[in-house]
Amino acid sequence: MKLGFLKSSDTFLDYNVVDKKNKFACLVDAKGKNLNLGCGSKYIKWFVNLDINTQNKKVDIVGKGEFLPFKDGVFSSVYIDHVLEYTSRPWQVAAEVKRVLKSGGIVYVSAAFIYAYHPHPQDNFRFTLSGLKNLFPEFEVVEEGIGKMGFSVSLNLLAYSLAGICSFNSQVLFNIFSILFKIVFFPFKYLDIILFRFKNIPMDVFSNVFLVLKKQ
Ligand SMILES: C[S@@+](CC[C@H](N)C(=O)[O-])C[C@H]1O[C@@H](n2cnc3c(N)ncnc32)[C@H](O)[C@@H]1O
Repeated sequence: MKLGFLKSSDTFLDYNVVDKKNKFACLVDAKGKNLNLGCGSKYIKWFVNLDINTQNKKVDIVGKGEFLPFKDGVFSSVYIDHVLEYTSRPWQVAAEVKRVLKSGGIVYVSAAFIYAYHPHPQDNFRFTLSGLKNLFPEFEVVEEGIGKMGFSVSLNLLAYSLAGICSFNSQVLFNIFSILFKIVFFPFKYLDIILFRFKNIPMDVFSNVFLVLKKQ
């Protein structure tokens, strides 16, 4: 069974120091039924891929995480990558995930902590690790962690803010300067490798949090 597609990928100004999805990939039951909730453009072949809309994406089922169109206890795993922050009621999505999951089933859930506003189609919430755990109180935590670190987060925000200053209120100039600053900052994202090694320092700046959970 190949689950390489679940590996974290880098974007231009983000560097992934943690490959957070490996643990989940190891636990997925390939013979079971698996749900990719809020699949976006990440269509996973042998998962049921659900999204709220079909805009620029391939989906198996159009549906809302808050009202999953499935019977109780049918899934072996649920994958929810960067979706909860866009939902209107993340606590209701969590309750639905619990309902459709078998006992012993596995969840991978990640959500944004520090990130620029980015609606899909809305942008409603940000999450800490404790906040995310509170949504899934009766689950065993198999693994927990943070995503991209300080430099990846800060450089993105700085590139947009500096582009804003240089734009003189022109969208075209803003777009040009956003690209320009991203190119200039590109090498500095690798400073996150050093930051990641300093385990004794509290890491308070990071892009997202993630949990691998098991239903009791
Ligand atoms: C940032 S994308 C993430 C896509 C994919 N999971 C990934 O990691 O690449 C967020 C997706 O969640 C979907 N979404 C937003 N609200 C949703 C909801 N209430 N129920 C299901 N999907 C939702 C959006 O349509 C969008 O495709």
